[in-house]
Amino acid sequence: VAAAGFTFIKANSQQHPPARYFRVNSKILIFLVLLQGAAVLLYSSWYVQPNARSSSKTEGKVHVLLLSSWRSGSSFLGQVFSQHPSVFYLMEPAWHVWTKVQKPGAKLLRMAVRDLLRSLFQCDFSVMDSYLPENHRASSLFMWTESRALCSPPACSITARNESQCRQKCDVKGLQKVEKACQTYSHVALKDVRLFELKSLYPLLQDPNLDLRIVHLVRDPRAVFRSREESAKSFILDSSIVLEQEDIPEAEVQYKVMQEVCHSHLEIYETVILKPPPFLEGRYKMIRYEDMARNPLKEVSDIYQFVGLEMTKQMEEWIYKKTHGKGKGTPMQAFQVIPRNATQVSEAWRTMLPHSKVKRVQEVCGEAMELLGYRSVHSEEEQKRLDLDLLHFPWFS
Ligand SMILES: *[C@@H]1O[C@H](CO)[C@@H](O)[C@H](O)[C@H]1NC(C)=O
Ligand SMILES: *[C@@H]1O[C@H](CO)[C@@H](O)[C@H](O)[C@H]1NC(C)=O
Repeated sequence: VAAAGFTFIKANSQQHPPARYFRVNSKILIFLVLLQGAAVLLYSSWYVQPNARSSSKTEGKVHVLLLSSWRSGSSFLGQVFSQHPSVFYLMEPAWHVWTKVQKPGAKLLRMAVRDLLRSLFQCDFSVMDSYLPENHRASSLFMWTESRALCSPPACSITARNESQCRQKCDVKGLQKVEKACQTYSHVALKDVRLFELKSLYPLLQDPNLDLRIVHLVRDPRAVFRSREESAKSFILDSSIVLEQEDIPEAEVQYKVMQEVCHSHLEIYETVILKPPPFLEGRYKMIRYEDMARNPLKEVSDIYQFVGLEMTKQMEEWIYKKTHGKGKGTPMQAFQVIPRNATQVSEAWRTMLPHSKVKRVQEVCGEAMELLGYRSVHSEEEQKRLDLDLLHFPWFS
């Protein structure tokens, strides 16, 4: 631009009287000096930028946070990501934070979980040093064989056919190979059942290095309650963290935890629907377990579209097999995910759970249930009449 400007003045100088030429030229010169200054600035910032640029854009990489709570079908949805060939998936990295720190509360650990997620989304596994034993390996990662990416190249030298083969062949030393593998995928997906609000994620949503999409999976609290009761022992540590180490009678613990879980649904609803910050737009999607159980292919297709993943023939087949009775032939058969008859299981609480307990759960979770489209039952008869559909369609569908 500057060079062209000078040529223009020289051409003019031959046709105009000198005095006029100088007057005009001094003005033009000032303009040109400014212009050149701007050009130099522009050039130097452009020159400096390649680094800043490549790290400030995410290079098309998408970061998916699968946000859920215990016993809500998140293992299945996690596998829907893990099995996809474009996804690097880790199940529940926040488990490491929650189990490492002694006698903490969920609030105290929130920021540590947030920072762990941020580093892992960027494939920086050095953050795990704080939580893993010395001389750690791939197998030091919680439920590592749930990640197809960790059981196939480049993280592993072979493509493992099943879980036991993955354990045998893919347990590499250190996390360097894992980190390298993470970098090769277009999508990094992390599952987390240990966050109860969105606000601590705001810095991640605003981070120019991340393109974060939040998939929030919820489930009928009565079904969650029944499922948690079945394996209450495995929740002792988590429950005391959720309840901030409060001293609560054993019979009350499950209800209190459900209350916290339901409260988190309400809080997230308020954030997303009533006063969403601008950076949340297009980055949050809520999914109900029951909708997924009734129409898995459609729900998963919607989720894939939301995060920019292609639905493949293999994934369609995988989803069908996992949600429709027994199926043989998928390489990862041993990787246990969704119950065989998804519809049946999503309604099991109606016959298995005593009505007195159903009433208690409805008391602590009533507001959230209304919001999410789960009808309350008002008698044992209503509860057991399976022809009564308790799902309806709330705001988000
Ligand atoms: C896992 O796959 C390997 C290799 O195909 C096979 O030899 C082994 O029997 C399989 N194990 C199970 C438990 O299916
Ligand atoms: C699954 O359970 C539902 C409800 O009990 C039933 O209608 C359906 O036939 C079952 N499907 C299979 C494949 O067993």
